[in-house]
Amino acid sequence: MRILILGGGGREHALAWKISQSPLCKALFIAPGNAGTEAHGTNVALDIEDNEAIARWVAGNAIDMVVVGPEAPLVNGVWDFLRQNEATKDCIVVGPSQAGAQLEGSKAFAKAFMQQYSIPTAAYREFTSEQLDQAVDYLRSEAKAPYVLKADGLAAGKGVVICEESGQAVEEMKAMLSGKFGAASSKVVVEEFLSGIEFSVFVLTDGKNYKILPVAKDYKRIGEGDTGPNTGGMGAVSPPPFVDATLMDKVEKRIIQPTMQGLQERQMPYHGFIFFGLIEVGGEPFVIEYNCRLGDPETEVVLPRLRNDLVELFVAMHEGSLDAVRIEEDPRAAATVILASGGYPGSYEKGKIITGLERVEGSIVFHAGTKRMADGTIVTSGGRVMAITSLAPDFRQAIAISNANAERIQFEGKYFRKDIGFDL
Ligand code: AMP
Ligand code: GLY
Repeated sequence: MRILILGGGGREHALAWKISQSPLCKALFIAPGNAGTEAHGTNVALDIEDNEAIARWVAGNAIDMVVVGPEAPLVNGVWDFLRQNEATKDCIVVGPSQAGAQLEGSKAFAKAFMQQYSIPTAAYREFTSEQLDQAVDYLRSEAKAPYVLKADGLAAGKGVVICEESGQAVEEMKAMLSGKFGAASSKVVVEEFLSGIEFSVFVLTDGKNYKILPVAKDYKRIGEGDTGPNTGGMGAVSPPPFVDATLMDKVEKRIIQPTMQGLQERQMPYHGFIFFGLIEVGGEPFVIEYNCRLGDPETEVVLPRLRNDLVELFVAMHEGSLDAVRIEEDPRAAATVILASGGYPGSYEKGKIITGLERVEGSIVFHAGTKRMADGTIVTSGGRVMAITSLAPDFRQAIAISNANAERIQFEGKYFRKDIGFDL
């Protein structure tokens, strides 16, 4: 098969690493990819939010399978576009339809969906810009602190704001409804605050059958001890030791199965990953959010623990035979530590030369924001620069190996959290 991966972060490098190990993969392309994905295939300069350009490239290069990494192309309808196009309609697309991607693309849609199928999640209200007065009244009288405000649409991971005081929440509400996140915040969801420990569950599904992949936990805050602003994720562990069989049984029965039922009843075509962002509150799982893709950096610990041939799983998904597949997990624990550019998640400089990669021992380095220059040097080109993944009998050993290698890699302004897994 000739396979195209859309995206260029650590998640896509991990996908390229895994897919290139499959005997079914005859040629691999990554658009746009990064300096790491080049080791597994050919990087292609393609605007992944331009459906026509993607379709033209897929048809022109006889691509059999497109694996979509990030949410934006999915919410932008790449699945539907390739299906409707005569030249690309037979291509397998790993990722949901635009209707399915609404689970991530609209928080209000996801909340109504969960309510309809009695899926445990925080209580909520939604407000549009015409309802600003009601929103303010609600925040000042009924709602309780801390206030969780969420932009309805995609806001590059920045659309959730948690306020301690009602005055602050009112200001935030006004800013959001008047366009702080553009059209994405023309509607705002206000949620009850849930207090507990978060974890990430991924399934691969054809909209009917599903398989649960290794469970993970990511560390979203920039600072040690889970302090400071949210980032895309600064590290991850798989499996999180507190997620036992009893908890997973509840997740499956109360969350995954009703979600499948909803996809079917509402006839939302879904052939790809569902990422359940969950929180355990007093032993019970609740959905914090749905995503229509794999997580980053969770993928960098999930795929190294998956023993199955990933391309075989994608083919089974396409053929509707996932129920016949058995997921094989590496019993070892995996941990990943993100090296970030100084200043991230605020502003940061790019173009810093990265050295020491040849000194890494016993870890897999997944590139994220990196670029290879004409003279061969690798430089930083993003906030999250690379993910250092290690496997070991126990997650603490895995973290120690990743941390040691994180020290060996050098670039100006390098920052990483040394406390991944601190709360486990
Ligand atoms: P998101 O951008 O949707 O991943 O949300 C960012 C983070 O906000 C989540 O990972 C949680 O830590 C936090 N969060 C979102 N919703 C809630 C909630 N209802 N209660 C507590 N924390 C929340
Ligand atoms: N690590 C969380 C996410 O990918 O959204």
